[in-house]
Amino acid sequence: MDKLVIQGGNRLQGEIRISGSKNASLPILLASLMPEGDVVLENVPELRDIRTTLKLLTLLGCNSDFNGPEVEISAGNLVPEAPYDLVRTMRASVLCLGPLLAKLGRAKVALPGGCAIGSRPVDLHLRALERMGATFDLDSGYIIGTCKSPLKGAHITFDFPTVGGTENLLMAASLAQGKTILENAAKEPEVVDLANFLNACGARINGHGTSIITIDGVPALNGCRYRVMSDRIEAGTYMVAGAISFGDVLLTNCPVEELDSVSAKLQEMGVKVVMQDKGVQISADDKLSCVDVVTLPYPGFPTDMQAQIMALMCVARGSGVIKETIFENRFMHALELIRMGANIKLSGQNAVVRGGKKLMGAPVMASDLRASAALVLAGLVAEGTTEVSRIYHLDRGYESMEKKLSKVGARIERVSQ
Ligand code: UD1
Repeated sequence: MDKLVIQGGNRLQGEIRISGSKNASLPILLASLMPEGDVVLENVPELRDIRTTLKLLTLLGCNSDFNGPEVEISAGNLVPEAPYDLVRTMRASVLCLGPLLAKLGRAKVALPGGCAIGSRPVDLHLRALERMGATFDLDSGYIIGTCKSPLKGAHITFDFPTVGGTENLLMAASLAQGKTILENAAKEPEVVDLANFLNACGARINGHGTSIITIDGVPALNGCRYRVMSDRIEAGTYMVAGAISFGDVLLTNCPVEELDSVSAKLQEMGVKVVMQDKGVQISADDKLSCVDVVTLPYPGFPTDMQAQIMALMCVARGSGVIKETIFENRFMHALELIRMGANIKLSGQNAVVRGGKKLMGAPVMASDLRASAALVLAGLVAEGTTEVSRIYHLDRGYESMEKKLSKVGARIERVSQ
């Protein structure tokens, strides 16, 4: 297993190109099960989760050719089963439920089970699909979904604006009979990207990006060529990398509007964020201050940036409270940051960070993707050597992280353990 070895203290300077969005690519790849013609996707990142999804598509009966950053997919005779071996490595596999039920009227998908950042059930997905006429049984760890007749449009109000739930329903409703209305739908840019992709395939979706989405079902979808949005969380992570190293970094191929809440918080901390024609320029000096942060559904501050901003607050002045409202148990990185010298107190949903600490390099490891990113960020500013193990988490979601960071001056290398 590889680890990343980082010598802290270098100021980052230069240009980083942001890759395509992982969280937009995954549902769009799975939605590619539905069109009759071929789909070509551009700006797809070379990541472990993308490879896992392509493997899943193959098992489900699709042919795909990934010539990064472009993927070509043609759906053949679909097979309605997503096996546990794949689903357990990537929870997003559950997003094949909507497309399979819509196309085949049946689906057998392993239940994702527990996960390092909370229990993360899929009850909201299932309840909403039931409203469209699907029925579900649980058998030997598998969700068996069937619908006796084609899915029917329905008026569905989510208890919580679930991202994956909204995506599963967008896909299912696109090929259902009649109109579906989703209320309290997720407004995340990745949901909007999926809806735009489906519309490019001939779906009739309106209102995406707001909390009420309407979908008029169509009998069939066509193939298309579509460019996936760039990754706002990868961009946010490198914004923090620029800031934590008191550097000066330009992010290109960068989603700009989608980063509003992250830019606003970083600016409140004292980071200079300048939107330019070419991208987003980040610079900072050593006079940053802690702020209070609450994670919320979009357009609020993203839970996927919580760990990274915590790392930055550890070295900023003063103190601040981070409240995590989306996931339970998403503070595992705090314990590792404390091992590097941070002063963080955890209490339920809150983490109180007292900043102004000099972080010291240490061997650390993380239990999830964004937590691992936070430890790399801390390593960039820590005194001495930081070794981040279990970086298979990072490889799930960051394309060539060590290459992108070394190009702008970080001393970071991948070492086989
Ligand atoms: C997606 C993102 C993830 C991000 C999250 C929130 C992908 C592949 N993953 O995850 O990176 O952190 O959005 O922005 O896009 N919940 C239920 N029942 C359900 C569904 C969700 O209780 O049926 C709960 C979850 O346990 C969690 C909260 O709702 O506490 C948010 O989940 P959701 O918005 O569905 O996130 P994901 O789609 O899993």
